[in-house]
Amino acid sequence: MSTETSFAAYGLPEDVPHIPGVTEPQLCILDSFRTAIARKVVEVFPELTVEKVYEGVDYGKKGADFTVAVPRFKLKGKPDELTKKFAEAFKPDTWVANVEATGPFLHFHVNTQTLTRQVLNQIDRLSNRTTSGEPEYGRNESGKGKKVVIEYSSPNIAKEFHVGHLRSTIIGQFLVNLHRACSWDVVSLNYLGDWGTQFGYVACGFKKYGSEEELAIDPIKHLLYVYVKINADARESEEAKTRIQKEAQEFFRQMEEGDEEALKIWRRYRDLSLQKYIREYETLNISFDVYWGESKVSKEWLQKCVPLAEKAGIVEDSKGAKLVDLEKYKLGKTILQKSDGTSIYLTRDIAGAIERWEQYKFDKMIYVISAQQDLHVSQFFKVVELMGFEFASRLEHVNYGLVMGMSTRRGTVVLLSDLIREASAVMHEQMKKNEAKYTTIEDPESTSREIGITAIKIQDMAAKRINSYQFNWDRMKSFEGDTGPYLQYAHVRLASMARKNPQLYPMPPAEEINTDLIVEPKAREIIMLLASYPDVVKTALKSREPSGVVTFMFRLSHAISGAWETLPVKSEADIEKARARMLMFICAKEVLGAAMRLLSIRPLERM
Ligand code: ARG
Repeated sequence: MSTETSFAAYGLPEDVPHIPGVTEPQLCILDSFRTAIARKVVEVFPELTVEKVYEGVDYGKKGADFTVAVPRFKLKGKPDELTKKFAEAFKPDTWVANVEATGPFLHFHVNTQTLTRQVLNQIDRLSNRTTSGEPEYGRNESGKGKKVVIEYSSPNIAKEFHVGHLRSTIIGQFLVNLHRACSWDVVSLNYLGDWGTQFGYVACGFKKYGSEEELAIDPIKHLLYVYVKINADARESEEAKTRIQKEAQEFFRQMEEGDEEALKIWRRYRDLSLQKYIREYETLNISFDVYWGESKVSKEWLQKCVPLAEKAGIVEDSKGAKLVDLEKYKLGKTILQKSDGTSIYLTRDIAGAIERWEQYKFDKMIYVISAQQDLHVSQFFKVVELMGFEFASRLEHVNYGLVMGMSTRRGTVVLLSDLIREASAVMHEQMKKNEAKYTTIEDPESTSREIGITAIKIQDMAAKRINSYQFNWDRMKSFEGDTGPYLQYAHVRLASMARKNPQLYPMPPAEEINTDLIVEPKAREIIMLLASYPDVVKTALKSREPSGVVTFMFRLSHAISGAWETLPVKSEADIEKARARMLMFICAKEVLGAAMRLLSIRPLERM
């Protein structure tokens, strides 16, 4: 985007304020208001540049739209006098309506008519583009030409899918969607725990506890069942422990040595579990470009790891095992290779990173892993760095805190399928309480499942990642308060506007609707929120936090619910005015929907 003519193609005025290479007015109209303000400041203080002032145009304080703190520019003279001088020279234009100088601050209001017109145009245009497959309103092009690999979810086959995996799944998919919205080329990758002695235990236990039938019905559940059973057996006596352990280790050794019989069994467990996972991820609106796994880490790189670390001078021998000493970096000592030569988790991570670097040449690789593994990840990144790989600086750990007490009402949740089922059941019961409404729902099964999943996701993303939280069905299932169901309800209510107002249809194209008729303060508040959404996306990219998006959605939903009375559509006699308001609600639905999709939530049209 560079020429003025292409701005016109986006329905923008030819003279839209804009800073080449800095702003994207065709994607974020607030950029233009900030530019307009910056230009005005530079007119009075020509020693400054528009680029520099632009950076200092912040969201407004004290009811203003934007505020500029003049001292940050280090101009000659007293800030109070400078702002006064500016206010006296100020002349409004179609972008900036007025300014108020308070002490060292300049508080600006932008022109309401321009704001409303441009914001609604922009949302309408960009939303309609999505139908042709392009990303929607809120996106930006900051990541164009850059590649990121995002690793998340990464459950262990034949072991439980615990809350740590759930959080990684939810936060990871958000990061994938977020980077795509910022034009990054994204590879979403699931690093399955599909290698290790657990397969030995399962293979050994299967002889005694396995059932082909059960395996076909629910492989994840059945393999876990077998794993738990055989581990219980191993706890019965010293003799049993040694026997089972030996058999399991022997099986894993065969796997490591490439024994086809063992691999055949392993592959079957892996494939069946994976197929089931893919279906469950789909239910959660989660998907991966690549299913990788610990089994896929190549022998070649695993073997190169120890010599490379030795060369870096960080390895010491300990009874045949290889240790890395990271005491110097306050990261302790840790094993790189066991005495029997088998690889371990850390080494697989190191070798795996090198391999992915060779394959993808990423600008960034993000690992979404629980804070419980902070030490492991720091050690892993450090070793890669000490080995001399420059790409180490491109590795990033996005961590998160614990979830306490995630359980079904009958017992502890150990499987993703149980959690999904429970979420549906809880919501279904909740919805049945309102009988009149319940009978109007077309497909209560899938609707309640969708709302239940929304409830879980919102609860998970509502606070800063690093915070731990208490899993609470009662709180999250409520339609009141800041919950997932409340958001879905807000979206559904917006969706119902079109159905409830056939008198306004067909709606004329957005540009032909008279948006000057939208004048109420409540409407302006909503418009300003809608306008800020592209900034919310940018901020989220910097912080890697979904909570800012969640907060935004609640602010928007609250503003909308406060507008049903003051900005009526159906009872508005002036059809022009009703249509203008309708356009605003349609845009609000688009933005709320876009924010939900960013968080991997499927917005509902009816409930
Ligand atoms: N499968 C591991 C676990 O369940 C998580 C993997 C995290 N990713 C990694 N590259 N280490 O603990």
